Amino acid sequence: MCGIVGYIGHREAYPIIIEGLKRLEYRGYDSAGIALFDGNSLKISKTKGKVSDLEERSEKEITKNGSLGIGHTRWATHGVPNDVNSHPHASNSGDLAIIHNGIIENYDSLKKELISRGYTFQSDTDTEVLINLIEDVKKKENVKLGKAVQIALNQVIGAYAIAVFDKSKPGEVVIARLGSPLAVGVGEDEFFIASDASPFIEYTKNAIYLEDEEMAIIRLGKEIKIRKIIDDSLVDPYVQELQMNLEEIEKGGYEHFMLKEIHEQPRAIRDTYRGRLLRDEAIIKMAGVEDNMKKFLNADRIIIIACGTSWHAGLVAEYIFEEFSRIPVEVEYASEFRYRNPVITEKDVVIAISQSGETADTLAAIKLAKSKGAFVFGVCNVVGSSIARETDAGAYTHAGPEIGVASTKAFTTQITVLTLIALRLARAKGTMSSSDFRLYLQELELIPQKVEQALKVDEHVKQIAKEYLLSTNCLYLGRGYNFPVALEGALKLKEISYIHAEGYPAAEMKHGPIALIDDRMPVIVIATSKGHYEKVVSNIQEIKSRKGKIIAVVTEGDTAVKEIADHVIEIPDSEEAFSPLLTTIPLQLLSYHIAVMRNCNVDQPRNLAKSVTVE
Ligand code: F6R
Repeated sequence: MCGIVGYIGHREAYPIIIEGLKRLEYRGYDSAGIALFDGNSLKISKTKGKVSDLEERSEKEITKNGSLGIGHTRWATHGVPNDVNSHPHASNSGDLAIIHNGIIENYDSLKKELISRGYTFQSDTDTEVLINLIEDVKKKENVKLGKAVQIALNQVIGAYAIAVFDKSKPGEVVIARLGSPLAVGVGEDEFFIASDASPFIEYTKNAIYLEDEEMAIIRLGKEIKIRKIIDDSLVDPYVQELQMNLEEIEKGGYEHFMLKEIHEQPRAIRDTYRGRLLRDEAIIKMAGVEDNMKKFLNADRIIIIACGTSWHAGLVAEYIFEEFSRIPVEVEYASEFRYRNPVITEKDVVIAISQSGETADTLAAIKLAKSKGAFVFGVCNVVGSSIARETDAGAYTHAGPEIGVASTKAFTTQITVLTLIALRLARAKGTMSSSDFRLYLQELELIPQKVEQALKVDEHVKQIAKEYLLSTNCLYLGRGYNFPVALEGALKLKEISYIHAEGYPAAEMKHGPIALIDDRMPVIVIATSKGHYEKVVSNIQEIKSRKGKIIAVVTEGDTAVKEIADHVIEIPDSEEAFSPLLTTIPLQLLSYHIAVMRNCNVDQPRNLAKSVTVE
């Protein structure tokens, strides 16, 4: 987590860094800071709070000129969020400044060593230790900044993306990465440094993504030089052309990114299957699957690894894969999988799902699976991300940048990609007839239109939200394909409105959660017409007889649930396997409206960050 931005060139650095930090605030927003070099002196301004608080403070504290600077937005790991622990951190001499995303795990022993040699520390951070270690190496070894960074990093255990500046050697910034992302925008006589490309998208479309264990010395008027940290060997820079554009990362008239992203889902799903779902030819074309078809067909099982919302998409995929392609599927939290010595063989196919492509636990689980010989397939949204690069093959979800911390369009596009894979395997294995296959292709192609229709419940959902905004607990129930949607609905509500919510398989209610039901407990039930409908209606009756309040998501034209539920929200009819793509829409809207009415920060909920690059 944490977002880092840097600029070295001919423009004023301050506005570029502040605007860039705002775009990276999804990565953390506990504190923010900036260091600017005006040609003579290094000025640092930093504060607890958001980038807007930093703007206010820097207004009073520093003059904002200078065409070299680094900035940081923090998700606190070591040390509480306060002014002192905010980045950038300066070295004891005041010559060096650093911004850092990651964790230095052996910071404590390094700190003790430095203290014994007379260094003092103001903050509780691991980052202040790193900058003083660099300073110490620089003095002891009498080397330049780049070399000092390299020697210091070889003593460090942990993860980092860093940018370091030495005021005695202006015109140069040293960057390095291990386990945390780092991109360099290459312009005309200028360079941009950032955790992702969004801070520099309007200045240049040329980007270099540093690989793990690489560092670079960026000098004005010179080519960027990339080296391996471990052995100093030179690496050829690979300059990529970015596909992203500015509109994609702006709110486009919506009050929040989350609302914009909810409404983008018809387009996002369409983009995800475009060029892959060829209805007229009755084929699905996905290069990553086609090239590795043998691996998929010979697989004893598929293991899906992911975290959070992506894990929920994996659970939906479990139902779809087993139904369509009859391959056994296990879905695992990456954070558990990586630490429990799982049985994995060369006959396993592992599918890793991640919007950001940077989640530390998912990345570690991938490495573990690969080390045991499994074939690992990635489903990521962010192009060029660490997971996209680490996996053996993969398929991107073409959702476009997701900036709201609560995941919405990533979820539905992940399900879309996984559905395409399951359908393709079903045909290859012969577990689905060609007529059913054609029918499913046709149905899948209609989903964006149906999502558009589902989005029309917005105003109705807003009215329902008004009645429940003061609830302290909520229960979400679903069955079959819609059990994971119940989990996802509960996660959305708790993360953005701070109301305690739980998702449960509807039939499991009797085994415990029913004890919670009284006249203050809203229960959101997914009761689509094809998914164990009668059973779910019985569950609704059971809740009603205990005076629970029912908000039911039903298929349009429903009559039975309408008679008993307090509120019904209708969604279009579809194949049951595709219903999660529709039932999830009103649940996203419900959490959104409740959170807005509770005055919560919808796009940046407390304590969270979009990209979880620490374990
Ligand atoms: C919830 C949410 C998180 C992420 C999780 C995994 O709305 O966004 O639960 O789904 O942190 O992130 P990715 O998909 O980037 O690996």
